[in-house]
This record gives sequence, C-alpha cells and structure tokens, in this order.
Amino acid sequence: MFEIIRRDGLARIGKFTVGDKVVETPALLPVVNPKICTVPPRELHDTFGFNALITNSYIIRNNKDLKETAQAVGLHEMLDFPGVIMTDSGTFQSHMYGEVEVTNEEIVEFQKSIGTDIGTVLDVFTEPDWSYEKTKHSLETTLERTQKACEMKGDMMINGVVQGSVYTDLREYSASAMASMDVDVHPVGGVVPLMEQYRYAELVDVVMASKKGLNPSRPVHLFGAGHPMILALATLMGCDLFDSASYAKFARDDRMMFLDGTFRLQDMQTLDCGCPACRGHTLQDLRKMKPKERTKLIAEHNLYQITQELALVKRYLKEGRLWELAEIRCRSHPALLDGLRRLREWQDLMEIYDPISREGAVFYTGPESRSRPGYLRYMRRLNERYIPETDKAAVFPESSGKPYSRPYAEEFAKARRAGYTPVVMSPWGPVPAELDEMYPLAQSLFPEIADRETTEAIETLAQDFLMSKFKESIEYDQVPDVDGEDVNADLIRAKAVARYQFGIEAADALFRGRIELVTSKKTGKIRNVISDGEHVLSMRAGDGFYTLRMEGAKRIVGAVPAPYMRVKVMADAVPFVSEGRNAFSQFVLECDPDIRPMEEVIVTDPDDRPVATGRAFLTAFEMGSMKKGMAVKVRSGSDDE
Ligand code: GUN
Ligand code: ZN
Repeated sequence: MFEIIRRDGLARIGKFTVGDKVVETPALLPVVNPKICTVPPRELHDTFGFNALITNSYIIRNNKDLKETAQAVGLHEMLDFPGVIMTDSGTFQSHMYGEVEVTNEEIVEFQKSIGTDIGTVLDVFTEPDWSYEKTKHSLETTLERTQKACEMKGDMMINGVVQGSVYTDLREYSASAMASMDVDVHPVGGVVPLMEQYRYAELVDVVMASKKGLNPSRPVHLFGAGHPMILALATLMGCDLFDSASYAKFARDDRMMFLDGTFRLQDMQTLDCGCPACRGHTLQDLRKMKPKERTKLIAEHNLYQITQELALVKRYLKEGRLWELAEIRCRSHPALLDGLRRLREWQDLMEIYDPISREGAVFYTGPESRSRPGYLRYMRRLNERYIPETDKAAVFPESSGKPYSRPYAEEFAKARRAGYTPVVMSPWGPVPAELDEMYPLAQSLFPEIADRETTEAIETLAQDFLMSKFKESIEYDQVPDVDGEDVNADLIRAKAVARYQFGIEAADALFRGRIELVTSKKTGKIRNVISDGEHVLSMRAGDGFYTLRMEGAKRIVGAVPAPYMRVKVMADAVPFVSEGRNAFSQFVLECDPDIRPMEEVIVTDPDDRPVATGRAFLTAFEMGSMKKGMAVKVRSGSDDE
C-alpha cells in the first residue's frame, strides 16, 4: 500500500507499507552483495538508518551455502537486517555476463522460499542500442513473465519492471501494461547504460514516458540509480525508490562519489569532505591505508554522500522547492543540464501534477527556470481566461518590488485613469496589474541583471499577448496625464483573479449582482467578496488565490455543468465530508479530469449537490487509482478565515 503524504513537481513523500513495516519515500536501497557485504547490513540499518535494502536472489541461489542458509533461516536472519528486503532476479547478471540458468518461475519461487519482502520478475533487460523490433519482441516476454509472477506471488510483493530501451512509445506501452497487472512496485529498468554513459536527456525521456503509463498508486523505482548527482532530478520526475550498488563497487576501485561526479583517489587533489567517514583523514592517509580498510571507508563515504543528498531532496520537496534544487544540481554537470533541458519537452505532463501554489518564495535560477510547468500554466490561463478592462495597455518593466502594484502604485493609478491597463514584463511572462499578487508572480525573486534568453522570450510572449488582448499598447512613460476619479482597481483585481482561478463561466456566476469587497484595514488587500449579500469568496494573503465558500460553490454548481471543479463522493462519505472531514480517495466516484493539486474544488454527493469545499490534494488520475489517503482537504462549512 502506498500513500502520498506531500508532493512537489511529480515528486512525492510517500508512505510505503510492506507487511508490518513502513518505508518513507523517496528512499534509497543500498545493494548488498551477500558474498561480499562491504558494509554489513546491520550497520546499514543501525548506523546509516537504511530501512530497506536490495540483494540478489540469483547470487544466493547459485551459492550452495548461501542458498541453504537462506532457505533454512530466511533472508532477514541470514543478513541480520530487520528492515524491508527487496531481491532482484538475476536479470542484470544474466544480461551482462550471459549466464541464464534459471527460469522466471524458478526464481520467483525461490524468492518466496527465502522470505523476500519484494521480489522481482526475471525481466528481459532492454539495451539503449537495441532495434525497435527486438525491443518490442522482448517486452512481450517480460509481460508474460510478469503476469505469471503475479499469479505466483502469494504474500510476497512483486516488482513489475518497465522496459522498452529508449523508445518512448514502447516505454509507455510497457508501463500501461504493468499498471493493469497486480504488481506492487514499478521499477523502471534498462537504464543503467544510460546513466553510466551520462545520457541524461534520454534518461529523462525514458522515465517520463514510463511515468505517463504507470499506476500512480504504486511506488516507482529507478533501477540502478544511486548516484547522489541524479537524486534531485529523478525525484522531481516522480521516482520514489532508488538503489545503489556503486557505493561499494566504486569503493572497491578507489572511486569516491560526490555531488558533481565520481573521482578516483589517485586523481584527487584534496579531500574536501566532512562526512563522518572522511573526518580526520587526509588524502595521503587514505592512499596509505590497507586496501580493505580503505574500501570500507570509501564505501561509507559514498553512502554518506547519498544519504545526505537524499535528506536534502526531501527537505526541498517538503518546502515546495524541489524544482530549484534540481536546477541547481543539474548545473553541476553538462550532461545533467541536458536532462533538465529535455524535461522541458515534458512540461505538459509535469503540469498536470504540479501544485497550483506553494508556500514561500520562488527563486529563478536561470533561463531553464522558465521551463517549470507553473509558467506554462500561467501563460495558458492568461491567454484563455484573462479579459482586460480596457483595450489599451501600458507596458512597465520588471521591478524587484512585489507585488508590482506597490512600487508602481502611482504609475498604475495614472495609467488606469487614462484608460490603460498596466502590464509588467516579468521574466515569467506579461503580468496585468490585476494579477500581480497571485502565485507565483508576487512570490518570485529574479536577479536584477537579466539574461538575454529570458529577455528575448518575454519580448515574444508579450508581443503576442498584447496583440491578442489589446487594440493599442504604449510604454509606461508615454501615458498621458488625465484628471479625474481613480478607477476601482480592487474590483478589477477581484474579478480577474476569479476568472484566472475558476474560469470565466464560474467567475461570472460568483460576481453576479451587487458586489461588495471587504479589504484588510492593515494591508488594504482584498479579503472577502460579497455578491448580492452572500459571502462567496475569501482571498488568501499568502498566494493571492481565493478560498471558495459554500455559497460560492452553490453558485458554480448552478451555473457550470458537472464535472467542472467537482469531486463526487459516495453517499456513505457525505455525512463525514459535510461535517468538515477530509474526503479520501477510496470514496471518490468521479471528478473533473482537469483538477490540479492544491486547487479549490467542490465536493458533491452522487446527485451533484455541493457538500463541502476544499483543496484537492491529488490529480484526477490519482483520485481514481489511489487506494488510500486524502483526495480533498476539506474546509469546514463554518467560517474559515
Ligand atoms: N538492475 C538494474 N537494471 C535492472 C533491470 O532492468 N532489471 C532488473 N531486474 N534489475 C536491474
Ligand atoms: Zn567523505
């Protein structure tokens, strides 16, 4: 059972329950070679805090002593490891060294007999240089074997490995087929050669194409990925589990892992690491050590690098800043930067999962930041949902003061008096003054010295926007002085944000009749929208978006047909939800396919009567497939401010 606790990008903090044990994801499983045990499993658990590891059932089965012990006392006792144990099937060994002396049925049965928690099918490893035909053909074998393994698995969980070489359509096909089978974890396999050859752009294609077809209610394992440099990007793409054999393999030939790559001890100029393994040692010490001692020390160093980076990835994920960390990490190697740049091609898929807003500031780290799906969404909604008040625009340059209506208060008022709508050229795109408090516009920090790529991109975007929405546009310093009453900018803002957030039809229903705005005495910002005496909306100070009130929900349900903005729950759940309890995914009957995480939604009963409002925690696809966890964070019907 897998439950999503927090999210950012496609990434998730998950609770993965395996029997009576729980693994928090993202998690890395160190690979233990049962013949070598460079770092003993007990130490991996007690000292390094690993709750799960992976070992190879094929190696155990081929060694008489190990096989007998494993079958007699079980894998957990043999390895002295109290956490979750995953076993691989020998696919990789047979592929690399050509030894195939076990059938799928035999290895699945063997994994069960030694008490593995999560076993693996004998999948067929698909190399990046394989032809399309050969890849397609081998996929069928993997799928047949997976089906067989599902029938045999009993109490053991099973890994159904997505293969498909570098062909995105085959990856998606393979993933969809796996999603329809009774597997428990979705590893993405066949990627080790891509990572070894630093082919990160293709790795991004492979992972994203696989994610497209997979079942979101199961954890995704990136098979063979355990280098610290890839963790932020891979987690951002929605990989939940990783494994590393390299920490020990590299250590055996004196290679140390760092965030910017792997370096040979003999080539290193300094040892600039403060991890518990390296502390107190110099490069000379290390070089003089006995090989066995040195291997252990380097393996420990490598593990510390991985655990530290994974902890940082989790922190950024929880802070809603994983995009920033991934962008920063991807600048540590040109090949990784290719991966980040390729991710832009997957912006549409990323956009479905990317939360509508987050807490805290948004940092621009360079032109690649513009590829974050939030900006695609912003430009789309701006084009589709924004209706200017006037047909003339006054164009203002970006300002570091935000929201823009603060530094430009007088200039905006002057432009409005003259019949011009102020539009600021933000690095995210053109921003009409009335939208300047919304996430991510007001929350963003940009360098004062702009880069040419972004400047040019904005010019084009702004030209298109001005041409499509206005009859005329001038520079801000050309605005004529006009005497007279100030325009009510609050009302323009109130409506524009509602259109942007809920769509034009829903916003028109919310703004029907006589409108009163309640503003904060302290900040002057809009707090409540009262329409014909009904309190329909409240504005959040943090992200500048609205909270939908029950009166508002009723208006939308009356004006826009289902399933728009709705999450329909089973009759059994209605009494709980209407009391203000959260709506859980297992009770969702239907929902709007366009729901985005953190978006305001209306929970309805089976007859489309609104019972609560709240914020979606899951996408529509996830609501339909998650077996556990919150789908909508419901706000109580009473006053929520
Ligand atoms: N280890 C690394 N890559 C793979 C893979 O594609 N399949 C299996 N079973 N194990 C792996
Ligand atoms: Zn170290």
